[in-house]
Amino acid sequence: MSTEPSTQAIEWERKPNGIQANMPAYAEAAKDFDWKTVEAEFDWSKTGKVNIVHETIDRHADSARGDAVALHYYHPEGRQEDYTFKDLKKLSSQFAAVLKNAGVSKGDRIAVFLPRMPELYIAILGIHRVGAIPVPLFEAFMEQAVFDRLENSQSNVCVTTPTLKPRVPQDKLPDLKQLILVESNGELAANEISYEESMKAAPEWVEPEWLTVDDGLVIHYTSGSTGRSKGVLHRQYAMVGHYQTSKWSLNLSQDDIYWCTADPGWVTGTSYGLYGPWTLGVTSLVVGGRFDSDVWFSMIEKYKVTMWYSAPTAYRMLMAAGDAIPAKYDLSSLKHICSVGEPLNPEALKWVKKVTGLAPHETWWMTETGMHIICNYKGEDFAIGATGKAFPGTYASVVDDAGKELPPGQIGNLVVKPGWPAMMQAIWRNKPKYDEYFKIPGWYASGDSAIRDEDGVIWFQGRADDVIKTAGERVGPFVVESALVEHPAVAEAGVIGKPDAVRGHIIKAYVALMPGYEPTDALKQEIAKHVKTHMAAHAAPREIDFVEKVPKTRSGKIMRRVLRAWDSGEDAGDTSTMED
Ligand code: WTA
Repeated sequence: MSTEPSTQAIEWERKPNGIQANMPAYAEAAKDFDWKTVEAEFDWSKTGKVNIVHETIDRHADSARGDAVALHYYHPEGRQEDYTFKDLKKLSSQFAAVLKNAGVSKGDRIAVFLPRMPELYIAILGIHRVGAIPVPLFEAFMEQAVFDRLENSQSNVCVTTPTLKPRVPQDKLPDLKQLILVESNGELAANEISYEESMKAAPEWVEPEWLTVDDGLVIHYTSGSTGRSKGVLHRQYAMVGHYQTSKWSLNLSQDDIYWCTADPGWVTGTSYGLYGPWTLGVTSLVVGGRFDSDVWFSMIEKYKVTMWYSAPTAYRMLMAAGDAIPAKYDLSSLKHICSVGEPLNPEALKWVKKVTGLAPHETWWMTETGMHIICNYKGEDFAIGATGKAFPGTYASVVDDAGKELPPGQIGNLVVKPGWPAMMQAIWRNKPKYDEYFKIPGWYASGDSAIRDEDGVIWFQGRADDVIKTAGERVGPFVVESALVEHPAVAEAGVIGKPDAVRGHIIKAYVALMPGYEPTDALKQEIAKHVKTHMAAHAAPREIDFVEKVPKTRSGKIMRRVLRAWDSGEDAGDTSTMED
């Protein structure tokens, strides 16, 4: 969905609820900004001993902040628990001991395939404590998606539940040696460890494995236009970026109650669900279970949430549920709201402002950037539809394919000058993929297109490639097409994002059938279900059109541009490279 530049400015309350923005005026903050001053905020800058679990948990646990709540956990039909920094220090130590007993050591990849529950956070922290690298997997992943990630990361342990376990194809994963099962109450196989039992026997303090800033932090799998999901590896140094952006762009400080609605299976749920807030010692709320607008607004009242970080799809779903729900709750604790994942459309932005008094601020970034790059900042006015300005200490621009910066008002590639703190370190076991991001000389190429205006404000215009954003989640068409052609009825498949009022885009598939299959609605449903049960529900096409042939170039590349034209009824443009 492209966002029309608009001159309509949001008159932003400079000091909502009497609270000052953490960041000085943008020009002042950006002038002479030096990441070295941020490094000085971390204990490792003095000790040389690096581990994110020390900076997020232990140093707060050992300070006056030790008894403060680090994690409020709420499940509408289940557990409601609070964990202090001291609790998390102890529990992550115990889990580190469990991992050590299982033979885990520095640099190992450990998959975490859990629903949003306290153990998910404890597991990730414990993995950090032993210097291993967590590979968080979204709980909705089905077997193929789980396999792709475990196989590529060569994870040797997977932390999961008995419910999710059947989706881990152990027999096909030779590197996977052990499972740690949370909430298992039945029999354990020889390679299975009970989380609860093993935690009981574990010591309450395990010293972190000391690392360097260049050691691995986390691997997040994400999609591109081509190929299977790729593992974006971040390094420990990323914490410098998480910390400062959480402070200035999320505007967090220790008197906040912060609610990030993202799952740690996606980068927002780690960079800003764990690392950013906890390096600052901030209290975080995690809500388990399914989306429910009543529950969501009730959370703000119950926990007196001050800072809320969510995504356009969620804001639109709340809007669709109506004004009566937010009207039932006291939302006056809120001081700041941000948005991520795709542009927030003006209607949804205005609705959130209407019901909360606060306009969501854009934060543009990517799995690969690891941290916010372009944002609207608290205390600064912004125009509706504007993505924002580059975070102090980073430089973003709009360039042509040769890397030349374009004059204001011209659409081009949205790029970032390499070297910001949370820039990905590698694509796991795939150097060529990593290098593709730097094909525009001198720049990291985001794959987005944008315009920069006279004031240096950047306006996101859309993806320049075939990557689909559906309900805020990034889906590669190739992965869906591969799942589709595995169905016996499917000869060929081409997949695009179709604009949608709530989800931003939905996945639409064009399918050519094998001889002998009838193009029925029942078959459409069966094909969609196949993707749902093999990959993930969010990757399944919501719309399928049967076609004679999927348009391809003579070299066999699917021409998704033509599919998009078919869908919108527009002219397909130059089709001279099309086969036949
Ligand atoms: C899109 C999510 C417009 C963009 C953290 C980017 C956005 C992709 C915004 C990365 C925003 C993210 N406005 N578009 N505020 N934030 N995007 O890796 O296309 O899941 O390239 O990271 O989401 O998606 P990813």
